[in-house]
Amino acid sequence: MMNAKFEAIWRSDLPIELIEAQAVICLVSEAEWITGHFPEAWKEAIASVKERGLFKGSESQLFTIPVMQSDMPITLILVGTGQYPLNPEGLRLAAVRAAKMTVKINADQVVFALPSSLLTYSLSQDIAAVAHALTEGFILGTYRRKTYKRNQQAYIGPERLIFHQDKVFQDEYEQQWYIGMERGKAFAEGTILARDLTNLPGNMLVPRDLASAAERLAEQHGLEYEVLDEQEMVKKGMGGLLSVGSGSVNPPRMIVLKYQGKSAWEGEIIGLVGKGITFDTGGISLKPRLGMEEMISDMGGAAAVLGALHTLCLIRPEQNVVVVIPSAENMPSGSAFKPGDIITTLSGRTVEILNTDAEGRLVLADGLTYAKELGATRIIDVATLTGAVVSALGDVATGAVSNDDPFLNEFILASKRTGEKVWPLPAYTEFEEMLRSEVADLRNSTGRYGASITAGLFIGTFAEGMPWIHLDIAGTAYVSKERGIHPKGATGAMVRTIADYVINQ
Ligand code: BES
Ligand code: MN
Ligand code: ZN
Repeated sequence: MMNAKFEAIWRSDLPIELIEAQAVICLVSEAEWITGHFPEAWKEAIASVKERGLFKGSESQLFTIPVMQSDMPITLILVGTGQYPLNPEGLRLAAVRAAKMTVKINADQVVFALPSSLLTYSLSQDIAAVAHALTEGFILGTYRRKTYKRNQQAYIGPERLIFHQDKVFQDEYEQQWYIGMERGKAFAEGTILARDLTNLPGNMLVPRDLASAAERLAEQHGLEYEVLDEQEMVKKGMGGLLSVGSGSVNPPRMIVLKYQGKSAWEGEIIGLVGKGITFDTGGISLKPRLGMEEMISDMGGAAAVLGALHTLCLIRPEQNVVVVIPSAENMPSGSAFKPGDIITTLSGRTVEILNTDAEGRLVLADGLTYAKELGATRIIDVATLTGAVVSALGDVATGAVSNDDPFLNEFILASKRTGEKVWPLPAYTEFEEMLRSEVADLRNSTGRYGASITAGLFIGTFAEGMPWIHLDIAGTAYVSKERGIHPKGATGAMVRTIADYVINQ
């Protein structure tokens, strides 16, 4: 959740101690100690902390000092930055760490003191990128998962972030800073939307609810949208999505949203396809009970494309995007699909089912074909697809499979800007051969070897030669321990990189 009234602003017209705030974040490098525009008492406090060796300013070191200012308590939050200059990635993480502390001390208004060396540095770099990184890191650092305890007040989070510096720079500088803050806020908001959706328990988010969430987003931004119910899916022949959804009393949905940033609906159209399994029990090939509750996150791909779309709508780049979300609940029951079944996908390709727990690729197959029917000329699919990618890359990096190296390289460049880690897996043709079936065009499960790659290539078949990237976020979408910008639980992984890619295309 995010404070609905949250705003980030820039002030240089007042001395720092005269700004109303409960916390002041101070970036402190190992070399530069005294921030020129602080009142004497604050400087002395910081100096004595340094003398006693309590805080050195090394990277991401944190230290708090309570001070009194005009009879009001203020907490100085020192964040170490190591050796200057920090790149946007380091600044983003410093902001995350400081933000977590502002939540701990319940600060409502927070001042972010900008040391003059940072300003000089960002002048020589991209000013907007620095403002973006700090704003984004701060907002994402204040994120908390919604809780459902009786008699508990809802968490609100800080309401205002005030970037402060004492020298007055040119208007142009301030303008660039505002552009960066706006972008940072848009990127954070998209990420938070994805986190909130992914954190929803399975009983509060079934395919129908995911469709409502998409509808709300469409209405908020005036987007064209379409939701296919099971009858319409039967008419079209979406056998992949229908099979996976057949075991549940909550019927599947095919969700489509369109973002038009160009004057006409022609030329390049980017297709974003997200796996929307609202809960994955494994179906008849039932999962073990231990840890099954994490499968509330099996719609993390759907959440990522919705989050990215929200960010894009706030920034309005000149691109056309079609978002497709095949959504179902994978359940065992008398009506569920079974191992041995042979199904026909929307593309006409048949699939021999060997494991009903390999359901993501089945719904995504129809998702890709539908995106293509809707005019997509290049496709990114995002999915919590395989346990194998967690073995390979842990909860650290997202695995990528692609049929187009230049496309993937562009995407990885975007990931370097956002600080999200994306690692390419090799799409050798040997892995494709493993997908062959004796009785159908494809089999849906291939055994343990190279399982993330075969799963990705299964989906890639349905790109039919279109440039395509598959992102396996099984390890990164939902994590058991907070780390850096990722809180415990849903992370909103890939929202920022997808948005960045589309914007900088
Ligand atoms: N949703 C799971 C993958 C997953 C695992 C996501 C762990 C997040 C954390 C997916 O549908 C699945 O069950 N994959 C199987 C495929 C196998 C049966 C071929 C897997 O990876 O074990
Ligand atoms: Mn599964
Ligand atoms: Zn799944």
